Amino acid sequence: MSPSTRFTNETGVAVPLICGAMFPCSNPELVAAVSEAGGMGIIQPLSLTYVHKHPFKDGMKLIRSITKKPVGLNVLTEKSLSVVYRKRMEEYVDLALEDGVRFFVTALGNPRWVVERVEKHGGRVYHDVVARKWAEKARDGGVHGLIGVNSRAGGHAGPTSPEKLLEELEPLGLPVVCAGGVGDAATFARMLALGYDAVQMGTRFIATTECTAHADYKQAILDAKEDDIVLTMRVTGVPLAVIKTPLVEKIGTKAGPLARFLLQGRKTKHWVRAWYSLISAYRLKGATLKSSQDLWQAGRSVAGIHSVQPAAEVVRACAEAAA
Ligand SMILES: Cc1cc2nc3c(=O)[nH]c(=O)nc-3n(C[C@H](O)[C@H](O)[C@H](O)COP(=O)(O)O)c2cc1C
Repeated sequence: MSPSTRFTNETGVAVPLICGAMFPCSNPELVAAVSEAGGMGIIQPLSLTYVHKHPFKDGMKLIRSITKKPVGLNVLTEKSLSVVYRKRMEEYVDLALEDGVRFFVTALGNPRWVVERVEKHGGRVYHDVVARKWAEKARDGGVHGLIGVNSRAGGHAGPTSPEKLLEELEPLGLPVVCAGGVGDAATFARMLALGYDAVQMGTRFIATTECTAHADYKQAILDAKEDDIVLTMRVTGVPLAVIKTPLVEKIGTKAGPLARFLLQGRKTKHWVRAWYSLISAYRLKGATLKSSQDLWQAGRSVAGIHSVQPAAEVVRACAEAAA
């Protein structure tokens, strides 16, 4: 039995382990496998519909054919996203609520509209934050929990170590989830012992049998050492953790001079991010499914990942270590 925490009490899952949303790696079979094993799989709606080609309702049906246990939905609330995109996100949230989804992970913006919709159904919204300043804003927006994205995370990494970030976020009184750098069961147990209410893992779940990412990507995760993870500004306009491959070395990790200038403006930074996100969505999709485009997101958690395993094995090992 793994320990109960505020997160498990609020969400009804057995193990305080979240398989974080991953564009483009969150295929429905992976999300469902983690939930069925007792963790919380998070649906990334763009990954589900655009990369894995399941219209949202069909994707939900596929997940429900594998598990009836709780799953969550990732909602990107970044300001730079278009009106059309915002409308679509609202539809996804409503469809998920209709399906019984009660856990939502918001990222990159003001989560208030999601909280307002979800609270009517007794659901819970946890927000991704990299520093206390954003956590305070999210708390003021009504969120029920915080996901502390640290400097070791895959995807958009923060500037602070897992230990320091917990010190910053704990006094706010909300449940805090550790996101970043956890690739093995011993580190999972250590983060719970430190005081985190749950752990969100991404990279570890790419190297699972249920994840449909290309075998070369999985192998690159197994081969990578901590120092092979670099932060690049060239993909989305905010630091993104990727494996240092010849392609990454060729395109460099710093934003170009014009983008750097525009990223300093309060308004213009949103344009740059929207532009980067548009081109990177296509590029990252190719990198997941084809081996030739080696732009592979991963966190420093690669240090603890040594084999491709079924997702249920990962969840079981974590539950045992924490017990
Ligand atoms: C390939 C990849 C894609 C990701 N995409 C998203 C995303 O679309 N939305 C999101 O909120 N977080 C995203 N993340 C962050 C993860 O949900 C999670 O917080 C992170 O992977 C934890 O760090 P770890 O990889 O060291 O376990 C992504 C991470 C990875 C590795």
